[in-house]
Amino acid sequence: MKLVVANWKMNPRNEALALSLAKNVDSEGVIVCPPAIFLAAVAKKLKRASIGSQDVSAEEEGAFTGQVSAKQLKSVKAGYALIGHSERRRLGEGNDVIARKVAAAIDGGIIPILCIGESRDEHVTGRTKEIVERQLELGLSLVPRRVPATRIIVAYEPVWAISGGDPLVESDTPENAAAIIDYIRERLRHVPVRATVLYGGSVNVENAASFFAQKTIDGVLVGGASIRPEMKTIIKLAMEA
Ligand code: PGA
Repeated sequence: MKLVVANWKMNPRNEALALSLAKNVDSEGVIVCPPAIFLAAVAKKLKRASIGSQDVSAEEEGAFTGQVSAKQLKSVKAGYALIGHSERRRLGEGNDVIARKVAAAIDGGIIPILCIGESRDEHVTGRTKEIVERQLELGLSLVPRRVPATRIIVAYEPVWAISGGDPLVESDTPENAAAIIDYIRERLRHVPVRATVLYGGSVNVENAASFFAQKTIDGVLVGGASIRPEMKTIIKLAMEA
């Protein structure tokens, strides 16, 4: 069985649609990440799937307009938070604030899903490992040393493979994703965490099984396809894998 994270991004348009999407993905081994405004309603609806946020504040509470804290997420039963998604890095979120968000999530009892990945430019110039290593090292630099080790999820998402809703964008190959994920696992040996490592970027019903077939890939982070009917089949494939 593999893990599936559904990142709905800024979809759907209203709560009724969010609740019907939730019905479609309500299985064990699934983490649903709806927009913050629908978190509570979707959390109430889910019976088997877990719930995650698409972001979390680096701050605990106070004068931080528009932000949502780890404690607030916990209060609506969210157990996970995406952190450092490329669509947030693009808005200027750097590794320093990402590291603080990871620490704040852990402090507040939320399991971070740290997203890392290289841009197209970095990919074609052969800098993938260097970028991924840096994002990992800086992103996890404030993780507390604990026994037992803190649980985290890392999602390797090459930025050039993220569909942005465009079905013509192609995913990384499962072999290449597996090689980078092996590299990530090797780097994680120096960090006091128990990590689950996922692949993300244009995962769909056609290619999901080929990612699940890679032993080193613990699951997938699905964006565009997670709000389409095919998500049901992706989850079924993950359960059988
Ligand atoms: P995608 O998005 O599946 O649409 O490529 C993945 C993500 O951004 O998390």
